[in-house]
Amino acid sequence: MFEVATTKVHDEARQGEAYAPFDNDPNLYQRRFYIESYGCQMNFSDSEIVASILSAEGFGATRNFEEADLILLNTCSIREKAEQTVRKRLTEFRKLKKGRPSTLIGVLGCMAERLKSKFLEEEKLVDIVVGPDAYRTLPQLIAEADGGQKGVNVLLSRDETYADISPIRLNSNGITAFVSIMRGCNNMCSFCVVPFTRGRERSRNVQSILKECQDLFDAGYKEVTLLGQNVDSYYFVPDETAVDNTIPGDPAIKPGVVNFARLLELVALISPDLRVRFSTSHPKDITDEVLHTMAKYENICKYIHLPLQSGSTRMLQLMNRSYTREWYMSKVERIREILPGCGISSDIIAGFCTETEEDHRDTLDMMEFARYDMSYMFFYSERPGTLAQRRYEDDIPLEIKKRRLQEIVEVQNRLSLESNLKDLGKTFKVLIEAESKKSKEHWMGRSGENKVIVFPKGSSNYKPGDYVHVKVSECTQATLLGELV
Ligand code: 5AD
Ligand code: SF4
Repeated sequence: MFEVATTKVHDEARQGEAYAPFDNDPNLYQRRFYIESYGCQMNFSDSEIVASILSAEGFGATRNFEEADLILLNTCSIREKAEQTVRKRLTEFRKLKKGRPSTLIGVLGCMAERLKSKFLEEEKLVDIVVGPDAYRTLPQLIAEADGGQKGVNVLLSRDETYADISPIRLNSNGITAFVSIMRGCNNMCSFCVVPFTRGRERSRNVQSILKECQDLFDAGYKEVTLLGQNVDSYYFVPDETAVDNTIPGDPAIKPGVVNFARLLELVALISPDLRVRFSTSHPKDITDEVLHTMAKYENICKYIHLPLQSGSTRMLQLMNRSYTREWYMSKVERIREILPGCGISSDIIAGFCTETEEDHRDTLDMMEFARYDMSYMFFYSERPGTLAQRRYEDDIPLEIKKRRLQEIVEVQNRLSLESNLKDLGKTFKVLIEAESKKSKEHWMGRSGENKVIVFPKGSSNYKPGDYVHVKVSECTQATLLGELV
């Protein structure tokens, strides 16, 4: 009965998947594109922007790469393994290209940005290389590639947010959608390649975010997840002179600063029937104001992804995370105080440079303290160009990294089960997302706290997008099972 694993060694788990989001009539489009996305939610969200740009150029989507004129891979660089997966996939496309040389192959995203034109030397079959801030130039790059030239644009931007582009929802369930609210990252965590691949942080225009959320709600969507590398540093000053400075849900907004708490509130005000989630928060930046805003609106989900990375203050310093073990603990306490029952999840890295057994034990201890409902857990993978790669030796042997990771996974598995056991007998408001993958007789949905709940459809006429109340009667480590009440 596992819908999703709540505890996973998350190595590009949600990779692959091709999409056929819009009309499949072969006569409607002159050319077809196929796109696969790897890595974080931001990448999946970017692929929807790319789909929109391509559809305006007359491209239709296909789920079958063998019939595509343009094959795109939206890539991730966060760990070495993510890059290896993409390389492997490219060798499969190489065979296809031999039989159909006119097929164009493009690499998008973080790996494109990291390797730039080196990609074209290393992978000769690739025709197009486009970084995360250059998707608007895809049509020109495709035209160049059609003419036999290689097309490369990896310029990073200080202001590109694709604010005016209405994403085409790919592989959507029609109920939940991601909305990108900012791009880039200024944090400079020493292990992380993101500041180099996605550039400086910038916030998207508040009106365009609210319009996208309103449009989604009008189209029947019931949940939006506001996405950014560090959502708590969202900061936007609406333009006083803009022709339309009104904001849905708050026509009287005064020109002034919109911070993340205010943005959350404005999105929540669109409708009480629209659930609001967000990811990712940085422990140093999430404010009481955000927590109080969450408490104030029932439709803001009580769930926070609060990456720890390490429970040792010494490690956190080397990681350049700008908080200590004690600071993190006080954040967790604050969340529990203002939002009792709030779901909390984490990202954890095992075996960062110089990590001792004592540092590792600090991480395990902190997991027990925070009682995470779920974590994404990794062992450290050195990335070229990062601060850690330049400053510290990657000195923890692979076997030790793996053993520590395994211990972290074991603690998390137990914590996830304990967290689910605590929910037995409780009733949750659940948004139905889809039929259970395991059974046509069951619905699958989520609680506000982000727990997956599966329950029998019974004789009810409910459908995806409906809110129901479900009483939990059983659980596994990953899933709650219940009955409609
Ligand atoms: N090695 C292992 N894990 C990493 N992450 C980021 N960079 C690395 C790396 N070099 C993890 C962090 C981050 C998550 C998205 O990926 O835990 O929060
Ligand atoms: Fe991977 Fe990070 Fe790029 Fe997302 S932003 S695709 S996680 S490297």
